[in-house]
Amino acid sequence: MGSDMGKIWCIVPAAGIGLRFGEERPKQYIPFRSSTIIDVTIKTLLSCSKLEKIIVCIHPDDEYAQKSDYINHPKVQVVIGGNERSDSVLSGIQSIQTDKADDDWVLVHDAARPCVRLADINRLIKAAQIHQQGAILAAPIHDTVKEVVNQLAVNTLDRTRLWRALTPQLFKLKDIQTALLSENENSYLMTDEASAIEQLGLPVRIVEGHADNIKITVPADLQLANMYMDQQEEKSCG
Ligand code: C5P
Repeated sequence: MGSDMGKIWCIVPAAGIGLRFGEERPKQYIPFRSSTIIDVTIKTLLSCSKLEKIIVCIHPDDEYAQKSDYINHPKVQVVIGGNERSDSVLSGIQSIQTDKADDDWVLVHDAARPCVRLADINRLIKAAQIHQQGAILAAPIHDTVKEVVNQLAVNTLDRTRLWRALTPQLFKLKDIQTALLSENENSYLMTDEASAIEQLGLPVRIVEGHADNIKITVPADLQLANMYMDQQEEKSCG
C-alpha cells in the first residue's frame, strides 16, 4: 500500500439545467440557507485544504454563476461544461493545464449535493491514498429494490449487495481522463464517473458516507436538505 498522492483537483459539474426540479433557474442556483445550493457546496469544498483548485463546469448560457459568492475566489475556476455530465467533467479535467502531474487525482462532486460533510471528504481522500485506488462515497440501501417494467415488478434485487453511489468520487487523473474519453467513443450510459472507471476494469473502492449527502433533484429534497443541515449544525455546536 502506497501513501503518495499528488495534487487533488476538484471538479464540480454544474452545467445541468435541472429539468426534474421544474424551476426556471437551474436547481443549483435555487436559494438555500441564505445563499444558493451551489455556494453552500463550494463553501464546504473550499474548507478542504487538500484540494488544489475547485473547477466549476457551467452551462454555456449560464446567467447565474457570475452572482456566486465564490466566483472570484482565487481557488475557484469556471469552465464551460458539455451536453452530458461526462462532457462537463471531461472539460473540467482538460482545463487543467499548468502543474498537472502523473500522480495527480481528480475529485468530482455534484453541485447539487450541499450537505456533504468535510469529514466524509477527508475519509474518502484517506482511503484512496492508503489503497492507491479510485474511491467513492456510498450509502447502503435498506429498502427492497424492484426492477419495474410497464409498472410491473419484474425482479427483486439482492439488497445486501446494493449501495447508493454518492459524490465525491475520487480517481487518479490519468484513469478518469482515459475512462471518460473511452466512454465518449463508446457512448456508455453514465450517470457517475465510477461507472466509466468500472468499464475500464479498474477498482472502485466503496467508502461509507453519511446518507444525508443527498442530491437535490425535486423540490421536496430542498426541505429535507435544509433539515439535514440544521441537524449537522446542531451536532457541531452541541
Ligand atoms: O442530472 P443530475 O442531477 O444527475 O446532475 C448531476 C450534476 O451534474 C448536477 O450538478 C448537474 O448540474 C451536472 N451536469 C453537468 N453537465 C450536464 C448535465 C449535468 O455538469 N450536461
